[in-house]
Amino acid sequence: MQLQLTSPLDMHLHLRQGDMLKTVAPLSAKTFAGALIMPNTVPPVDSKEALLAYKEEILNAVNNFTPYMTLFFKPDYNYEFLQSVKEDILAIKLYPAGITTNSEGGVESFDLKQLKPALEAMSELEIPLCIHGESGGFVMDREAEFIPVYKQLASAFPKLKIIMEHITTKEAAHALLEHENLYATITLHHLYITLDDVAGGLLQPHLFCKPIAKRPEDKEALLELALNANPKVMFGSDSAPHPKSKKEAPGCAAGVFTAPIALQLLAQLFEKHGKLDNLQDFVSGNAQKIYNIKPLEKTVILEKKESEIPKKYGEVVPFMAGQKIEWSIT
Ligand code: NCD
Ligand code: ZN
Repeated sequence: MQLQLTSPLDMHLHLRQGDMLKTVAPLSAKTFAGALIMPNTVPPVDSKEALLAYKEEILNAVNNFTPYMTLFFKPDYNYEFLQSVKEDILAIKLYPAGITTNSEGGVESFDLKQLKPALEAMSELEIPLCIHGESGGFVMDREAEFIPVYKQLASAFPKLKIIMEHITTKEAAHALLEHENLYATITLHHLYITLDDVAGGLLQPHLFCKPIAKRPEDKEALLELALNANPKVMFGSDSAPHPKSKKEAPGCAAGVFTAPIALQLLAQLFEKHGKLDNLQDFVSGNAQKIYNIKPLEKTVILEKKESEIPKKYGEVVPFMAGQKIEWSIT
């Protein structure tokens, strides 16, 4: 059995910089037509110069792949600045300060008055806002606790497209449907694992990420949205490579590396649930509509043929390393 996908898109991707970028960017470019590139580099992408330099670094590492760029949200972005970068970005990514990898310069307070000028300008300029939606509370409750902020922002800025990044809970899955201007990305790993897989037996550092994987009923709520290619959701891998030495260590870095095997494992999952027909929309069609983009043409053919996930890509251990999977890229 074969499956043909047209112009797959990964709407949440970490490519890092330097040698790591040179290792991982071509792996995404092999199977994806484009990706939304996260700005949590060191230092973050928060100026036009940094943005253009980062885009060039990516383009130098790939062929036939569109890096859809993002800026790291700062409350002091004004209309003139945003207008000057509008053509170079697809979205702006907001991180609460310190909530995840390299987010120290993020937003300290969700006081609407403080955020209003930047968000109003984004709304007027039609620049979507992507949010890492977690509070600073108890780790399992962080996403659910953040939902009032999503709702407040969605109501206060009805013309602003807000993307709830990497949702992991049934609460987020429900909130998404209540506001016309809320959308969401869903990762591969949150469709496969729960907290039990991370910490229920021996600790699995390569499954440790932010937001942490939740309960079975949460995973079910995500599956319901993804498998039916609900038009409010799109695939965003949140593939976040860290070297093995930073993962298999005390103080394990957060992030799961999935980019090179994402489509194969999505095909396996969608086939298992009898939903292969919906995969094209989940990995491309929905994102095209939400972001109003026409990706470059790229055809990817998957085949139902057993393959084995490599144990490492450079210094990075991928999701399900060494395991057999049912689908391969031809
Ligand atoms: C991401 C990273 O390493 O950059 N880590 C993660 O666990 N997902 C950052 C993020 O998206 O939270
Ligand atoms: Zn991420």
